[in-house]
Amino acid sequence: MTYAVIMAGGIGSRFWPESRQERPKQFLNVFGDATLIQNTVARLNGIIPPERCLIVTHERYVEQVKEQLPAVPAENILAEPVSRNTAPCIAYAAHKIKADDPEATMVVLPADHIIRDVRSFHTVLKTAIDTAQTPGTLVTIGIQPTHPETGYGYIQYDGPADLPPISPDNPPDAYPVRTFAEKPDVATAERFLDSGDFLWNSGMFIWRADTILDEIAAHLPDLDEAFAPVAQALESEAAEPLEEAFQNAPSVSIDYGVMEQAETVKVVPGSFGWSDVGDWRAVYELSDKDEHGNAIQGEVIMHDSSRCYVQTDDRLIVLVGIHDAVVVDSGDAVLVSNRESTQQVKNVVQYLHAHQ
Ligand code: GDD
Ligand code: MG
Repeated sequence: MTYAVIMAGGIGSRFWPESRQERPKQFLNVFGDATLIQNTVARLNGIIPPERCLIVTHERYVEQVKEQLPAVPAENILAEPVSRNTAPCIAYAAHKIKADDPEATMVVLPADHIIRDVRSFHTVLKTAIDTAQTPGTLVTIGIQPTHPETGYGYIQYDGPADLPPISPDNPPDAYPVRTFAEKPDVATAERFLDSGDFLWNSGMFIWRADTILDEIAAHLPDLDEAFAPVAQALESEAAEPLEEAFQNAPSVSIDYGVMEQAETVKVVPGSFGWSDVGDWRAVYELSDKDEHGNAIQGEVIMHDSSRCYVQTDDRLIVLVGIHDAVVVDSGDAVLVSNRESTQQVKNVVQYLHAHQ
C-alpha cells in the first residue's frame, strides 16, 4: 500500500510577520481558499485517501492540524516532542508505517508548497511510486530550474537536455541521479544552471519504508540507534519511548543526511506549476499584478510606485515613489523589505528569537 507522510513541523521563518511560531506557513492561507496543508492533502485525492495520510508535526501544532484536517484520523497525526529537522521526522513515520505494513511505500511531502496543475502532478507521482517499488531505490521529484536559487537542493541527472512535455498519456520517465547538492552557494548554483543538467529538488520523496530505514542505518547510524527502541516498542505494541528517541536523534535534514550520500537515487522530472513559496518575493511572483507590476492585498494606495508587493490586514497603507519593495502589515508588526532581499527575513526572525 502507498501512504503519504506530510512533514508539517517547520516554522517557516521567511514569512514573518504573517507567520509566527504559533502559526507557521503550512497553516496559512497564502492563496486561494484553503491553507497550504489542506491543499497538500486535498491534491492527493484519487491517489492516497486521507485515512492513509500521516501528518508529522511538533506537539504544539497538533490541535491546528486536527482543526484544519478533520478527514485525517487523529491517530495519523504523529507528534514530535522536539523538532529535529526532517530526517528524524521521516525515520519515525517510516517505523510506524513499516510496523503496520512491511512492504509499504511512502510518499513524503512538504506541507507548504503550491501546485497549480494537479493532473500533471498525479502523472508524475504515479511514475515516482512505480519506480520506488524496487527495493533500495530512493526517488525524488525534480523541477526545471529558472534561476540560481540558493534555498533549494540541486539534482544532477542523466536525462535528455530537452524534457518532453508531460501529460497523462505521456508520463515522464525516472532518470538516474548523479549528484545531489543541497543548498549550494550562488556561484555554484549559477554553474549548475549554466550546465543545463541540473534540476531543483522539490523536497518530495518516494520510497519504500524499509528502504529509507536501511539508508538511514547506512548514512545516519546515530539516528538509526536513537529510534531502535521505538521500532522495538512498535513490534511489541508497547508505548513508544518518543521523548528519548527525539532527544537522542541528531538534528539533520533528509537532504544532507541521506540524499547527498545515497547511491541509488532516481529523479522524475515534473512541471506542474510548483512553487515552494519560500518567501515574500515568491508570493509577489505568483500574485496577479496591475499595470505597474504592483500586487496588493487589502486597503492600499500606490502613487508613483511600481513592482511592489503590499499586504495589510486592517490598516490603510500608502506608498509614494517606492519601487521593488515588499510591505507586509500584520497587526503588531510591519515588514518593509527590498523585493530581492526577502530571503533574509529569516535572519531577522533569528535575531528576534535571541533578543525578545
Ligand atoms: N515534522 C517536521 N519536523 N517537519 C519539518 C521539520 C521537523 O523538524 N523541519 C521541517 N519540516 C517540514 C517543513 O514544514 C516543510 O514542510 C518540509 O519539512 C521541508 O522543510 P523546509 O525547512 O521547508 O526545507 P527547505 O525548504 O529548506 O528545503 C527542502 O525543500 C526544498 C524545496 O522546497 C529541501 O528538500 C530542498 O532540497 C528542496 O529544494
Ligand atoms: Mg521549504
